[in-house]
Amino acid sequence: MNYPSLFSPLEIGRCQLKHRVVMAPLTRMRAEKPSLAPRPLNAEYYGQRATPGGLIIAEASPVMATGFGNPGVPGIYSEQQIEGWRKVVDAVHAKGGFIFLQLWHVGRVSHSSLQPGGALPVAPSAVPISAELKAMTADGKSVAYETPRALKTSEIPGIIGAYKQGARNALAAGFDGVEIHGANGYLIEQFLQSRTNLRTDQYGGSIENRARFLMDVTRAAIEVWGADRVGVRLSPYGVANDSGEPDPMPLYSHVVKALNPLGLAYLHFIEPRSSGAGRAEVNHQNVPSAMVLFRPIWNGKLITAGGFTGETADAAIAAGHADAIAFGRLFISNPDLPRRLQRGYELAPYNRATFYGGEAAGYTDYPAYDELARA
Ligand SMILES: Cc1cc2nc3c(=O)[nH]c(=O)nc-3n(C[C@H](O)[C@H](O)[C@H](O)COP(=O)(O)O)c2cc1C
Repeated sequence: MNYPSLFSPLEIGRCQLKHRVVMAPLTRMRAEKPSLAPRPLNAEYYGQRATPGGLIIAEASPVMATGFGNPGVPGIYSEQQIEGWRKVVDAVHAKGGFIFLQLWHVGRVSHSSLQPGGALPVAPSAVPISAELKAMTADGKSVAYETPRALKTSEIPGIIGAYKQGARNALAAGFDGVEIHGANGYLIEQFLQSRTNLRTDQYGGSIENRARFLMDVTRAAIEVWGADRVGVRLSPYGVANDSGEPDPMPLYSHVVKALNPLGLAYLHFIEPRSSGAGRAEVNHQNVPSAMVLFRPIWNGKLITAGGFTGETADAAIAAGHADAIAFGRLFISNPDLPRRLQRGYELAPYNRATFYGGEAAGYTDYPAYDELARA
């Protein structure tokens, strides 16, 4: 029997992938200010990482002004932002690649200095983030988190509407699909989890009620795109941004089963061992594997990410635990990652100091292997 490998083709919704090395969504905080539109430097970065038949999931992009938790993050709610994203999409399509946009609202993982009118960040409930973690202000300083303002029930349709508009805007920009960011302790996960959702309306209480916001947002995106061009990202057993469900299995089993009948392009996990990799180098021990736990109850395509090497990615695919593997940190420092993995070339180390904010350094100046060999 022939097992699939990292370099077997794969159909994801309407995209015919030629390999299974996906670029994970990566916040880099290098959009133009104050428009928060992608700029030519961003198009160059994504273009460098595009491959024929390869899938890129572009960085999380707030669907509305209250959705930001960091300065310099690109949005997807203004004309200028749509225009900026179109140039990114064109650069990826010019190389024969596919690109989805990750739709984002951070909820309580924000600071009033980043909010319209200096208002408090919004969340399902007025539960502050642990004092051990720090918020980022509009000028990049590290300060204590504030207690967020609980959303009124009457405000929730407006936020779902903003996700829908974000999905429409992504369509207008030429993307191949959208991914709903339901991971890492942001707004959707704040609704999902019992520690951050103390609501007593139809969006809180039972697991079914806590999952309602995710389901409503996902259905809104499907109305715009069709299900085969919408993905959902989840981080069960994650501990990012003070997230964490006391007993994740019942919650996430319900969510995975509720998503099944929608016919999504894919479900995308962050493996618990790498939860919080955006903030620090982590390798959580004695944690379960999301792909192993949930693959048996998920009917569609599965992408997962978190601490993979070429070898472990190949093994996960051959074992049938996942259909494709997303790479984050290694895609930052290896613009030609798929080729390097295929040929067994050495991988360049990444520099965490240049992950967030800045210009070309640590962004577009990591050379491809062949350029390095010629130098
Ligand atoms: C700099 C950085 C930014 C990230 N930004 C996002 C993001 O915007 N959306 C998201 O879902 N995950 C984000 N993540 C998580 C990655 O997508 C990925 O799941 C994680 O880094 C684990 O994969 P890796 O071990 O291959 O890096 C980020 C991680 C890093 C290191």
